[in-house]
Amino acid sequence: LAAGSAAWAGNGGGSGPTKTDAEDAALAFDRSAYTTITVNVDGVATPVRWYREVCYVAKPTAVSTNVANQACGYQSMNVFVPESAARDQRTAIYYAENNSGWMASYIKASIVDGGTYSSATSTVGAALKAGYVFVDVATRSRGLVAADGTYAGKAPNVVVDAKAAVRYLRLNDAVMPGSAERIVVNGTSGGGGLGAALGASGNSDEYLPHLAAAGSAGVDAKGRSTIDDDVFAVNVYCPITDLDDVDTAYEWLYNATGTRTAVGANPNPAASAALAAAYPGYQKSLGLRTADGTRLTASTMLDVITDEVERSAEAYLAANPANSIPDLGENFVITGSGAGTYVNDWIDIDPSTRGVVSVDIAQYLEFVATQNKLKPAPSFDQTGATVPGSGGGPGAGESNLFGTASQAYSNFTEYSWNANGTLAGAGGVGDGIGLDDTGLTWKQFLAKKSTTVDEQAELIDPLEFIGTSADTAPYWYVRHGTRDRDTSFTVSINLAAALSADRSVEDVDYRLAWNQPHAGNYDVPEAFAWIAASLA
Ligand code: DHB
Repeated sequence: LAAGSAAWAGNGGGSGPTKTDAEDAALAFDRSAYTTITVNVDGVATPVRWYREVCYVAKPTAVSTNVANQACGYQSMNVFVPESAARDQRTAIYYAENNSGWMASYIKASIVDGGTYSSATSTVGAALKAGYVFVDVATRSRGLVAADGTYAGKAPNVVVDAKAAVRYLRLNDAVMPGSAERIVVNGTSGGGGLGAALGASGNSDEYLPHLAAAGSAGVDAKGRSTIDDDVFAVNVYCPITDLDDVDTAYEWLYNATGTRTAVGANPNPAASAALAAAYPGYQKSLGLRTADGTRLTASTMLDVITDEVERSAEAYLAANPANSIPDLGENFVITGSGAGTYVNDWIDIDPSTRGVVSVDIAQYLEFVATQNKLKPAPSFDQTGATVPGSGGGPGAGESNLFGTASQAYSNFTEYSWNANGTLAGAGGVGDGIGLDDTGLTWKQFLAKKSTTVDEQAELIDPLEFIGTSADTAPYWYVRHGTRDRDTSFTVSINLAAALSADRSVEDVDYRLAWNQPHAGNYDVPEAFAWIAASLA
């Protein structure tokens, strides 16, 4: 644990230990500063205390655009406390990551006065019904331009902010309802990647200089940590993570059985082949195994994905016993409530046992790729003269998450760095488009240490922390839709395997979510039952 953390645990607020930190003093939570709103949860009028746009760092980034919280700056959170929990110091804090697309998440209010929420489908409904505190945290990230014109959302600031918010909750734990020792992080896609990074990297010293720069609670004048930033549980969907290796994983997966060519011409066969060729070495270097002890390598991975698809189908069929499965030979059709009608020619089910007979992995991957067009190659660290991240949407490439605060974007992987120099309109060798190191290869660039791009990627990657001395969250629930083409299935499989191998992790509840697209919160009651069991 971080030095000094014990001194702060359970601090009653008044007669606590001496802490000569002006920033912490400025970050005191005002328990009376709320308005009461009333929402409808499962038909029940539910009063909720809304602490609006609470500033959680002492040096917030000033924003240039007219976002809601000009009074604070960028890093603020909405805190919602069901009236029933106003004096409950033990209830969980449900912490929503809102950075979809790995973009900056402007302050969001998931709970609005007069809103109607069902605990069957809404995380808000389920959290309020359970009596949890709900927080929406704004985090800087890609796409953000600060008032001074700098790109203030470069990695790792998004994780730094997420941690600073945890530290704020711990600093004020005695005066805020709920327990900061029972933080449950929820996020989807970019938010899933952030939740995984936050949950994996608890109390890691590497973030301290960044936390200090942001004016986070719990960093003393000597740069030491005085408050913890580990969390209790992580509930994430389709995590977009392992960004610096995902391009290789993606090309390997969608070339292993010829998916790219099967669904259309491969848009960039040279990139595809070069990236795919790098995957086996990377996968081997992780040193991971499946639950039954099988080494997770490029040779076993397709079988592991096949097994996961089968497990997903069988879990779905078991959970929906009323749904029928007509025996149509090659075609697997399910009809019934909530199922829609699905025809899948890549899976064979025995209707009498409701068990999976076989999955054709090549046809399955083709099915995934026809549900939603595959990303270009490279998928995340894109090359070429177009501005990555332009349009702001997910899938436009993540390179504007990297580089310095004065660079619009930077390539962050060896392949794309080196490849960019060879493309028309992209400038010199390895210029990363817009960097000042024109002419350097990736290896020369890193050796020169004029960059922290590699460190930026590491500080947002959970695999860098799981299984180390970091205080990784003990409870994990991870789902990844079987129809998701936004990342490689290897990413969540590796995350789950790394967590399972970490002896400080108590529970890894991982599954592919049957017939689900790239999305989140697929089965809210199931996730909340898991949260309740973890807290018990
Ligand atoms: C998201 C989707 C992506 O394809 C991506 O690369 C990053 C984030 C998202 O939906 O959050």
